[in-house]
This record gives sequence, C-alpha cells and structure tokens, in this order.
Amino acid sequence: MSAGTAVPKVPVHIAIIMDGNGRWAKRRALPRTLGHREGAETLKRITRYCKDIGVQYLTVYAFSTENWRRSRDEVTGIIQLLRYYIGTFDTDPERGSIRFRFVGNLEALDAGLRADFAAITEKTRGNRDAITLTIAFNYGGRDEILRAAKKAAELAARGELDPGALDETVFSGMLDMGGIPDPDLLIRSGSERRISNFLLWELAYAELWFTDVLWPDFKGGDIDLAIADYQKRQRRFGAVVEEGE
Ligand code: FPP
Repeated sequence: MSAGTAVPKVPVHIAIIMDGNGRWAKRRALPRTLGHREGAETLKRITRYCKDIGVQYLTVYAFSTENWRRSRDEVTGIIQLLRYYIGTFDTDPERGSIRFRFVGNLEALDAGLRADFAAITEKTRGNRDAITLTIAFNYGGRDEILRAAKKAAELAARGELDPGALDETVFSGMLDMGGIPDPDLLIRSGSERRISNFLLWELAYAELWFTDVLWPDFKGGDIDLAIADYQKRQRRFGAVVEEGE
C-alpha cells in the first residue's frame, strides 16, 4: 500500500497570493490603484471560475499587515476598492454562489470597514452550494498564530483550558482559519517564489505553484494549469513512499 495520497481531481481549497497589480499598472503607465482595480476584476472572474469547476474554498491575500507601509494613496485606494467590490460579487442565495469570510487582525480596523465586512458575511452566511471566499485583510501568518497563542494563554490563565489538552486540533480551532480545511494548493502570481507570511500554519502541507503571470492578466486557464500540475503531485503529508509504490 502506498503511503502517498493521490490528489483528488480538483483541490477542495485553493489559496492565492494575488501579486503583480503594481507592475501591471506600471507597464501601462497607469497609477497603481488601477492595477488593483483590474486585480479586483480578476478576483471576481476567478472566484466564479473556481466555483464552476467545483473548488469549495478560495482564500486570497488582499492586504497584509506589512502593506500599511505603502503610500497613503495606495492604501486608501485598496480599501475603497475592496469596499466597493465586495458589493459587486454575485452572492444571490438562489444561485448560492459565494459565502464571504474575512480573516486577519480585523479588530484593529476602522469601524466602517468592519461593519461592511460583517454585513456581507452575514448576508451570505446561509448561501447553500456556495464557494467560501475568504479575504485575508490586515493579515499576517505570524500575527494570526500569535493572536491564537494569546487566546490560548488567556483561556489557560482563567482555568478554561488545560495546557496539556492543547494539541494541533484545539490550536487550529483558535486560528482565524479555524473550521476550514487547510489549503491543498497555493498559487502565487507575479513571479516571486515565496509565501510572504501568508497562512503559515495552514500551508504546512500545501502544494505550491508559482507563475510569472501578473494577477490582472491571470485567467481561468492559469487555474487549469495549476490544477493540472497539482494532479501530478503525490501528497505524502510527511510520510515516506517506498520506490515503486
Ligand atoms: C499585490 O500586488 C496586491 C495587493 C497588495 C493588493 C491586492 C488587492 C486587490 C486585488 C484588490 C482588493 C479587492 C478585493 C475585492 C479583494 P502588488 O501591488 O504588490 O504588485 P507589484 O508586486 O507588481 O507591485
């Protein structure tokens, strides 16, 4: 018997680092914010495409804890785009298309933005047969782990958690991504080959796929290429597979 697990046809959960909006705009001598706008359009198309091919969870890195260091104009532009665009996705419950979730250090955000996130989350919570679109905003993988560790420490200090009972399952449940299966496949557009503090805990056994395509140019066909490559992999989750098996 092989210790490896043949991958299912379509990954249950795809995570994406949507990189390259700025370069896409620069090549056209456009402001960076227009690159992000094209990026948001791409996300709409890719969400629909992923739903159509049977992906159940899509998680995207929209704004990192480090992105506040960008110019005030760019940060404001990204936030405005996000607030506008989340209202334009097709979330009709009859078509049951999307269930929104937001992860990251949301408590640190402006109350208006949090209210928008809460409203679309609530509106789409009951959508059946939906793809779950998780938007990571003001998100950092280390920050997510640290906040969960603090939660565990506080519970333990109050006597509500036995430190000896803290295992991977219990701890995972305290993370922002708790309750969602770990990503099977991470895609990063825009040439860089790193994970940039994204889902550090959850990507432990994910298959990684990188492309030079800039995010605004990314198409359903690029998802197909990533999945075709993913299907050739054998996931071992740390186990050894003997030769010939
Ligand atoms: C990375 O490209 C992209 C971002 C930091 C922002 C991503 C935001 C969006 C796609 C819009 C948000 C809207 C929704 C609906 C989620 P980059 O700016 O780092 O590109 P570069 O590396 O070419 O400069």
